[in-house]
Amino acid sequence: MENNVKPRAGFGTAIGVLAATLGSAIGLGNIWKFPSLTGTNGGAAFVLVYILATLLIGLPVMISEHALGRKAKADAITTFRKLAPGSAWWLVGVAGVLAAFLIMAFYTEVAGWVFAYIVKAIGGGILSTDPEVTSAAFANLITDPTQSLIWQWVVLVWVAGIILFGVSKGIERMTKRLLPLLFLLLVVVGIRSITLPGGGEGLTFLFKPDFSQLTWQSVLIAMGLAFFKLSVGMGTMITYGSYFREDQNIPATAARVMLADVAVSLLAGIAIFPAVFAYGFEPTAGPSLLFITIPAVFSSMPGGSIFMVLFFILAAIAATGAMLSLFEVPVAFLNERCKMSRKTATLVTFALLALVGSTAALSNSSMANFKLLGKTMFDLFDYATSNVLLPVGGLFICLFVGWRWGYPQVKAELTNGGKLNNERIVRAFFGIAKIVTPVLVLVVLLNGLGLF
Ligand code: TRP
Repeated sequence: MENNVKPRAGFGTAIGVLAATLGSAIGLGNIWKFPSLTGTNGGAAFVLVYILATLLIGLPVMISEHALGRKAKADAITTFRKLAPGSAWWLVGVAGVLAAFLIMAFYTEVAGWVFAYIVKAIGGGILSTDPEVTSAAFANLITDPTQSLIWQWVVLVWVAGIILFGVSKGIERMTKRLLPLLFLLLVVVGIRSITLPGGGEGLTFLFKPDFSQLTWQSVLIAMGLAFFKLSVGMGTMITYGSYFREDQNIPATAARVMLADVAVSLLAGIAIFPAVFAYGFEPTAGPSLLFITIPAVFSSMPGGSIFMVLFFILAAIAATGAMLSLFEVPVAFLNERCKMSRKTATLVTFALLALVGSTAALSNSSMANFKLLGKTMFDLFDYATSNVLLPVGGLFICLFVGWRWGYPQVKAELTNGGKLNNERIVRAFFGIAKIVTPVLVLVVLLNGLGLF
C-alpha cells in the first residue's frame, strides 16, 4: 500500500525545522544564480534592491506560508481548500505545481553542469587563471548536446532514484549536515579571492552602489531572485510549515532562514567577484560566471584541485536538497490529486521532466535558435518562474493572509495561541503582508514587465 495518509510526524526539534527549511532554500540560487544576476545587473545597487526585496517581500511571504501550513497541516492546495472552502484560492497551489515543474526543467541542467564539474575537477586540466581556458572548458560542456542531455539525465535519475528508493529523508539529513561545510569552504575561497592582487575592485563592484545602472527590469529580476532563493511564492514553504511544531516561533525561524540565505549568497559573491577583477573575467558573463571563475580561484591556492573537487561536491549536495523539495511538489500532486501511486507519480514526473527539460538542456546547442518571446527555453523557464509565477503566487499568498484569513487568525498562529510575547512583531508583519508587500510586488511586476 502507498503511504497516502502519512502521519505528519513533524520535525523533532526547533533546529531540525531550521535546518530542513535551509536545505530547501540554499542551493544553486545562492552560488550560481546570485553571482550571475549580480554581474549582469550592475553589482551593488542590484544587491541592495535584492536585499530590500528579501526583507519586505520574501520574508513576509515566507512567514505567511509557514503560518498557513502549520495551521492547516497540509500541502498548499489542501491548505487553501481547508482554510477557504468553496473558493478558488486553491488555484494558487496549482500554480505552484507548475512553477516547481518549470524550475526543475532548467535547474536540473545547471545541476548537471555542477555534477560534470565534479568529474572534470577530479580529472584535472580545468584549473587555470586564464579566462580563455576556463571559458572554453565551460563552453565545451554546454554547447555539446550529448553532454548536456546526459548530465541532466544523471541528475534526474539521481533525484528520482532518491525519491523512489524512499531515502529522501536520509539524503535530506545528509545535505543539512553538510551545509556548514559549504559555508566554511566559501569563507576559505572568499579569503583567497579578496587577497588576490586587484581583488579589491570586486568588493567595490559588490558593495559600492551605482544607481544609474538600475532599471525596472533589474528591480524585477532582484525581486524574482529574492523569491527564488527563499523557495517562496509557490507553496513549498506551506508544506514545510505543516511539519512545524506548535511551539516553533515562526517569525524568528523565517528571519533566521532569511539571514543565512542572504549570508551564503553574499559569501558566494565575495568568493567570485574579486577573482573576476583580479584575473580579467567579464562580470557580465552570466550563467557561466560560477564555472569559469571558481577554477581560477582554486588554481591560485595550495591544494586547489582537491578543494575544487570538494567545492563542486558540496554544491551538488546543496542543489540536491533544493531539488528534492522541488521534485516532491509535482510528485505529491500526482499522488494525492490524480490518485497515482507514489512510484508512478515519480516516474511520470521524471519522464515529463526529461522531455520538457531537454529543451532547456539543449538551449545552448541544438535548440539555441528556438526561441519563444525572444528567449531560449532555458531562459524562458527561468524568467517565467522567478519573475512571474513566484511573485504572482507570493502576491496571492499575502492577499490571502491579509484580507481573507485576517488578523485574529494570524495573531493566534504567530503568537502560538498567545504563548509568545511577540505581538508587536506580529502586528508589524501583518501590516506589511497585507499592504506593503502586495503593493510592492504589483508595482515591480507591472513596471518590470513593461505593463505600466
Ligand atoms: N531556493 C532554492 C535555491 O536557491 C531553489 C528552490 C528550491 C526553490 N525550492 C524552491 C525556488 C521552491 C522556488 C520555490 O537554489
